Amino acid sequence: SDRDTTARAGKQRDLDRARVAPDDGALTTDQGIRVDDTDNSLTVGERGPSLLEDFHLREKITHFDHERIPERVVHARGSGAYGRFRPYDDSLAEYTAARFLCDPSVETEVFVRFSTVAGSRGSADTVRDVRGFATKFYTEQGNFDLVGNNMPVFFIQDGIKFPDFVHAVKPEPHNEIPQAQSAHDTLWDFVQLQPETMHMMMWLMSDRAVPRSYAMMEGFGVHTFRLVNAAGRSTFVKFHWKPKLGVHSLDWDETQKIAGKDPDFNRRDLWDNIENGAYPEFELGVQLVPEEDEHRFGYDLLDPTKIIPEEEVPVRKVGRMVLDRNPENFFAETEQVAFHIGNVVPGIDFSDDPLLQARLFSYLDTQLIRLGGPNFPQLPVNRPIATVRNHHRDGYHQTEIAQGRAAYHPNSLSGGCPALAGEGAYTHFPERVEGRKIRKRADSFADHYSQATLFWNSMADWEKGHIVSAFQFELGKVEHKHIREGVVAHLNEVDHELAVQVAKGIGVEPPKATGTPNHGRTSPALSQANTAADSPKGRKIAVLAADGVDSGV
Ligand code: HEM
Repeated sequence: SDRDTTARAGKQRDLDRARVAPDDGALTTDQGIRVDDTDNSLTVGERGPSLLEDFHLREKITHFDHERIPERVVHARGSGAYGRFRPYDDSLAEYTAARFLCDPSVETEVFVRFSTVAGSRGSADTVRDVRGFATKFYTEQGNFDLVGNNMPVFFIQDGIKFPDFVHAVKPEPHNEIPQAQSAHDTLWDFVQLQPETMHMMMWLMSDRAVPRSYAMMEGFGVHTFRLVNAAGRSTFVKFHWKPKLGVHSLDWDETQKIAGKDPDFNRRDLWDNIENGAYPEFELGVQLVPEEDEHRFGYDLLDPTKIIPEEEVPVRKVGRMVLDRNPENFFAETEQVAFHIGNVVPGIDFSDDPLLQARLFSYLDTQLIRLGGPNFPQLPVNRPIATVRNHHRDGYHQTEIAQGRAAYHPNSLSGGCPALAGEGAYTHFPERVEGRKIRKRADSFADHYSQATLFWNSMADWEKGHIVSAFQFELGKVEHKHIREGVVAHLNEVDHELAVQVAKGIGVEPPKATGTPNHGRTSPALSQANTAADSPKGRKIAVLAADGVDSGV
């Protein structure tokens, strides 16, 4: 329809404004002065010293000297692609005012960046790590960023622990080793001292941590968010991406060989598939929970170390995303793109998840230094197709010439003042909150093991074998025995057999059974899952069962 071509073409036209095609015309300096020789410096005689007055030499080298910007503090290694998203029908209109989610006549342009977390910009793709899956939707109501991962939970429950966690997971500070692997003492020391990591560590030691292709990964918004409809009614939501090709992983041995032979394996795969017209496709899914059901579960919806099992709340598929265009310039687009979970449009809102709340601060803050000041939203890959109209002024890298004499609100001099609370304005959901100011983790966040057990029980025998080998490989490199013992003690709370098997391979005394398989605070649904798992085959949670996990190239 006309409408969808306009919505998509809007961003394409916008990018056109910034495109600079290769040109065989005369070479010039940045000031537009034509250059006759770019191979020889201006010198005194043929063999004499170079002259300071050689402005072409100075400018060329100075620009080169300043080519690098800081890499992202996490998720430094990544690959991006443009694409399009369209909802299947208008059924989400009952839940959200976000038009791009419920008007099937609108096709929205997206930019997606996939990434690893721990390694630096030049690190190998096929390491054992979480993968980032960040999507920017350039909607008519403004940009919406869904900044997720390929695992549905996270290592920590409160963002105040994020600097501690990242310092533990990144290369050790004294020797910058290991560059991109999880096998080292500081990470495992953090894990043994913070049992809230256990559920995520099970995912990290599983085949999910070594995806075969970015097109073969699920994506998760992780936190509970809110959808808010036109009447102001809120519904809790978890976002999912389901890959059309299903979920497939590499085998550990393959990852090691590929990292040596082709460190760009996943990046190349994404690029080549798009060039060849084999476009990666994902379905957007939502799990919806009415506000009044917030406390129906045996875990806290605000706890990002917990999933909502798909048996409890099915994933409803609401739309399709196709990635069909490679960026034209890695730096301009993939490196300078700035995702932020605070970028929401009317109809989408936050929950009080304390990890989410800290992220709301962190992304803009880090981008202010990474992208050199407050004007990075003007960069082509970041700017919305929706009109931007405000009194922000000045700052490094300002590229706009704001006209008029008044940059304050309200004013009577500029020939009009941007209107407030016009139609379609964002209004925050008026959640009722009360309480004392305290620093205390909610008791409802205290169960760190039940869902780790659920994950373990959902695995097939060969998947369990891979998890045991991964723990043995990673912990086998940990120098300090008390750390290895500490992790085994936590694994014993997850599953006794798992702990015994891991212990055997890493020089640690196998632990005794604890006799507390369900760890107190489980929901009826989870206890049921654990009981069902006593059957020889165990029970598959649907997040895994939906597409199946395959291994091997
Ligand atoms: C970057 C996901 C938790 C801080 C990223 C990126 C993703 C991501 C996908 C890469 C974005 C890109 O491609 O440019 C997540 C998920 C989290 C999580 C799913 C938990 C559920 C946190 C927390 C913090 C944080 C708790 C801080 C309190 C950052 C920072 C960056 C980043 C500083 C770099 C952003 C940039 O330089 O542009 N995260 N993250 N993240 N994340 Fe997170």
